[in-house]
Amino acid sequence: MSNTIAVIRGDGIGPEIMDGTLSVLDALGVGLEYDFVDAGMTALDKHGELIPAETMDAIRRHRVALKGPLTTPVGGGFSSINVELRRRFDLYANVRPAISFPNTKSRYDDIDLITVRENTEGAYGSEGQTLSEDGDTAMSQIKVTRRGSERIVRYAFDLARRTGRKKVSAVHKANIMKTTSGLFLKVAREIAAEYADIEFNEYIVDNCCMQLVMRPGQFDVIVTTNLFGDIISDLCAGLVGGLGLAPGANIGSEAAIFEAVHGSAPDIAGKGIANPCALLLGAAQMLDHLGKGEAATRVRKAIVGAMSDRDRLTPDLGGNGSTADFAKAIAERATA
Ligand SMILES: NC(=O)c1ccc[n+]([C@@H]2O[C@H](COP(=O)([O-])OP(=O)(O)OC[C@H]3O[C@@H](n4cnc5c(N)ncnc54)[C@H](O)[C@@H]3O)[C@@H](O)[C@H]2O)c1
Repeated sequence: MSNTIAVIRGDGIGPEIMDGTLSVLDALGVGLEYDFVDAGMTALDKHGELIPAETMDAIRRHRVALKGPLTTPVGGGFSSINVELRRRFDLYANVRPAISFPNTKSRYDDIDLITVRENTEGAYGSEGQTLSEDGDTAMSQIKVTRRGSERIVRYAFDLARRTGRKKVSAVHKANIMKTTSGLFLKVAREIAAEYADIEFNEYIVDNCCMQLVMRPGQFDVIVTTNLFGDIISDLCAGLVGGLGLAPGANIGSEAAIFEAVHGSAPDIAGKGIANPCALLLGAAQMLDHLGKGEAATRVRKAIVGAMSDRDRLTPDLGGNGSTADFAKAIAERATA
């Protein structure tokens, strides 16, 4: 795979956390080259469109992108630029790790789980949305396919096998949504039978949420449909200290985009106090994807180490450091 990645600095706090993240990647000396392209409001201002053709070309060519958060303008255009990018590149697997870090305010200190969310269909796709003329009846369609279910469940099992994880849990609502969730569960059971070395179990989504809050240690890899995955992965981010520590990878067969789960945080943009960790953890996922697993491990360990440097943490983690201070504290440890 090429060493050049497309870099979208993003909107709001995007440029600040991207600068911090790239400073750590540079310190690692992994030889990455950056092709800077625009999307979101920055692209609209500069090029008159939210996702310029040049940006699409760069992602297609390099096959890997690191993306800062994008502001989706209210009214008109796409429902979300992120959803649009996932659709255009068929990025079917949304992979969101939730891992406890020391010295963070969170309910548990030993969480280590990954949510694998189907990223292209299901209720989140909001197909066929209609509102009756009187405005009193809203409807939408849910599409779940055998192909979509097969590839996401297989992705989850392969990920578990590749990373030495022991268990995959399918999360569904097949007792009520008998066709859509039912098809997903049926396919999950079929695929699970091919992976005798990985334990498989099932949870109805509401029970899963309660179990996650009460006994998260029972989960390892969760695989689920689009909307359930959206909600569950945020719940998991909440279990480990919030959005400032939650990364996400969007993986397809032709391209992959790595990002922070959080948005462009307009309330703190330009103040230099945004936490760069979520994007940096997204960059660590990217390093794994590029076959640079040793560097990815160094980044994660450096973040753990920097968490004890309380003065240099950003305010969301209880410190009074700037984005640049915190990134520097991490870079120092990553290269020690
Ligand atoms: N992946 C993405 O690009 C993405 C994801 C979510 C929202 N958005 C967009 O972002 C914009 C703002 O959305 P929002 O305000 O609902 O959510 P948000 O995630 O931007 O912010 C929610 C809260 O979390 C805080 N926060 C977020 N990231 C932080 C960080 N790294 N460090 C410290 N604090 C942080 C913010 O200050 C804010 O108080 C919207 O236009 C939305 O469409 C983009």
